[in-house]
Amino acid sequence: TELSQIRNFSIVAHIDHGKSTLADRLIQSTGTVQDREMKEQLLDSMDIERERGITIKAQTVRIDYRAADGQDYVLNLIDTPGHVDFAYEVSRSMKAVEGSLLVVDASQGVEAQTLANVYQAIEADHEIVPVLNKIDLPAAEPERVKEQIEDVIGIDASDAVEISAKTGLGIGDVLEAIVTRLPAPKGNADAPLKAMLVDSWYDAYLGVVVLVRVMDGVLKKSDRIRMMQTGAVYPVDRVGVFKPGMLPVDRLGPGELGFLTASIKQVRDTRVGDTITHEKKGAETPLPGFQPAQPVVFCGLFPVDSAEFEDLRDAIEKLALNDASFSYEMETSAALGFGFRCGFLGLLHLEVIRDRLEREYGIDLITTAPSVIYHVYKTDGTMIEMHNPADMPEAVHVDRIEEPRIKATILVPDDYLGDVLKLCQDRRGIQLDLTYAGSRAMVVYDLPLNEVVFDFYDRLKSVTKGYASFDYQMIGYAQDQLVKMQILVNDEPVDALSVMVHRARAEARGRVMCAKLKELIPQHMFKIPIQAAIGGRIIARETISALRKDVTAKCYGGDVTRKKKLLEKQKAGKKKMRQFGRVEIPQSAFINALKMD
Ligand code: GTP
Repeated sequence: TELSQIRNFSIVAHIDHGKSTLADRLIQSTGTVQDREMKEQLLDSMDIERERGITIKAQTVRIDYRAADGQDYVLNLIDTPGHVDFAYEVSRSMKAVEGSLLVVDASQGVEAQTLANVYQAIEADHEIVPVLNKIDLPAAEPERVKEQIEDVIGIDASDAVEISAKTGLGIGDVLEAIVTRLPAPKGNADAPLKAMLVDSWYDAYLGVVVLVRVMDGVLKKSDRIRMMQTGAVYPVDRVGVFKPGMLPVDRLGPGELGFLTASIKQVRDTRVGDTITHEKKGAETPLPGFQPAQPVVFCGLFPVDSAEFEDLRDAIEKLALNDASFSYEMETSAALGFGFRCGFLGLLHLEVIRDRLEREYGIDLITTAPSVIYHVYKTDGTMIEMHNPADMPEAVHVDRIEEPRIKATILVPDDYLGDVLKLCQDRRGIQLDLTYAGSRAMVVYDLPLNEVVFDFYDRLKSVTKGYASFDYQMIGYAQDQLVKMQILVNDEPVDALSVMVHRARAEARGRVMCAKLKELIPQHMFKIPIQAAIGGRIIARETISALRKDVTAKCYGGDVTRKKKLLEKQKAGKKKMRQFGRVEIPQSAFINALKMD
């Protein structure tokens, strides 16, 4: 295809503003998919993605379109991941296209997450076409939202396309805007091959499938390619495009988006952002901007039933084959036995992996307190990158500790602003900015990542009844008064509950955790002290009183089946418990003890 006939674009939108509905409409109205093949929301495929309404893997579809000027165009839509944890993946997808549709729900307006992705689009030098969706709704206020786009994002919205992805109104205008307002890609077919590795995933039939954007040169079946970051060489088995099913083609030229397969064994062997070139006469320099995957949040994953350790290992290895950004190593804990220390791109990523382990592999897990990477400077002048409080050196050897901080952007209706400020203040935030756009405020805070990894997002949603939107980026490390707090249950330290806390907040935090554990740990036949300690000093304490745990006593010896049922229930309950010394702690206690509400 001639470069001038190609348009590559992404759709930037906040969750629920109608990205998938619009994509489906574009695909449908151009006859890319026959109506009877049309599944609702073609682009989101994974179950968890569907359930949570987020896209994790970039997906692409090639649309053939005859425009009003009578010419035939190829439109490549790339569906980018929609979550802050995947910011780097988003940035690579953005680099693979020249323009974006900015879809804003005309009844809702701009949200924080939209902002983050728009900035990525601006950074990738995109031409941006604002699209106001849901104008069929009585609550739609296109004029107000146009103003907001201009005020908050700073791009011209006077030519915004007004549509209803639901009814199909304005879809033709979107297609024309793509052709007339977005630039054609540039590239040189005669130059050495440079193709960007945008994403990769495992396909049961084809093995690893690599999504590529060809910048220069031509990629053909049976070429020998080299990954410039890893140096690995592969013979290409197939190249093709997505329509949206995989359709083999002979070649992909400059400006084109498509896939290749090349007997690559595991997704781990591919790196998002890597440059693919030919083994012989390849490009000299890679495309700019490559970054290795960097986990930022860590936690331990242990099987509730220690007999399931091998199953957990298999499951984690399988998941890791398909997710290069997830790291793991074996860990042993005095209290929990064998498990894995795992690193994730963010909290959502952690939840997705944990869900999959539990759901797809049927393993009940204990998740230890999530931790960030601390820089611990020791008195001997060395520094360790510590991502497990269990590795904390003795206090006398520690000179200072630095923690990662983030810049958080929160958009919230005025009415909830006070609660949001309080929440950020409580989490040791430093206010950087506060501005208004209509009846909504935009607050920017410098916050310790440590205070955000646990339940910040849940708290934010609950104090704002779901009206706030939140986005963050890492900004660097800063020193603070941090200490390791241990929890002792029946005088035994439970390392899975150790957390790093700010010294000034340790007592309050310790009291909350002890009080929660008192509720979460069932009574035993003996008294159980629960203590929070820093070093050898106890800073909070609760006691669970003793009980004669005879659940059948209530049945007055009468009904035998009822008695049996109760005993069975008790047994089932036990499965989700873990023995710590003489105390059984339920699986749910580990996560819930950490919540701060
Ligand atoms: P995620 O996939 O969760 O990121 O959301 P999305 O942005 O893809 O939104 P989606 O297309 O799933 O639409 C969200 C909801 O809005 C769905 O219930 C759609 O039916 C509805 N919706 C989308 N477009 C329109 C529209 O033009 N008018 C109305 N009334 N509803 C719409």
